Amino acid sequence: MNAKPTVHRASFVASATDVLDLPAPVFAEVAFAGKSNVGKSSLINALLGRRNLAHTSSTPGRTRLLNLFRAELEGGTLDIVDLPGYGYAKVSKAERRAWGPMIEAFLQKRPGLRCVIVIVDLRRGVQDEDRQLLEFLAEIGRDALIVATKTDKLSHSQVWPALQQVKRQAGGAIVLGFSAETNAGRDELWRAILERAGISG
Ligand code: GTP
Ligand code: MG
Repeated sequence: MNAKPTVHRASFVASATDVLDLPAPVFAEVAFAGKSNVGKSSLINALLGRRNLAHTSSTPGRTRLLNLFRAELEGGTLDIVDLPGYGYAKVSKAERRAWGPMIEAFLQKRPGLRCVIVIVDLRRGVQDEDRQLLEFLAEIGRDALIVATKTDKLSHSQVWPALQQVKRQAGGAIVLGFSAETNAGRDELWRAILERAGISG
């Protein structure tokens, strides 16, 4: 299996606030979750080799809907879901209340969902909301993979100890390092995703 698959086509499929309004799941799906501004949308763009397919912003709270993207790869089709970031204090209370159930319903109700990639900022590590999400995923029996992003913000010698720290905080789960800035870790992440999605690169 090649580490980085050829992406023949990457496109936006749909946005919704309610999982039931998304198109019926047909393909293997992976979802990206994490605190607001952690770099979920940037990571999706880096994986797909597209500049701004998933909209990114330096202002937290950019992604407020469930966004479904589709990648046509050499070995099959993969659906990618960019989830709204959690833990951002400045969105309205009503919106914050809606996010938890929106994300939870998605995680529970999508039968094609093979893996949830929980993204944390390597400099901040696993925070309370991340831990709650990881516990919820364990409860409902969803496979989780942790990606610690923005590795470019640390010096080379700091990256390894910081990754070990995240791994400890996550109770020994698999943790991959990543940078959307340098693409470090991209091949390894692709390999992990394809394996879980059952797609050969
Ligand atoms: P929400 O949609 O608000 O939840 O945010 P998000 O998690 O999708 O984050 P987004 O991808 O929009 O990135 C937030 C900010 O972090 C942007 O200014 C990005 O340019 C920056 N960023 C994302 N990934 C990286 C990275 O790997 N390295 C560096 N240096 N900056 C990054
Ligand atoms: Mg986003």
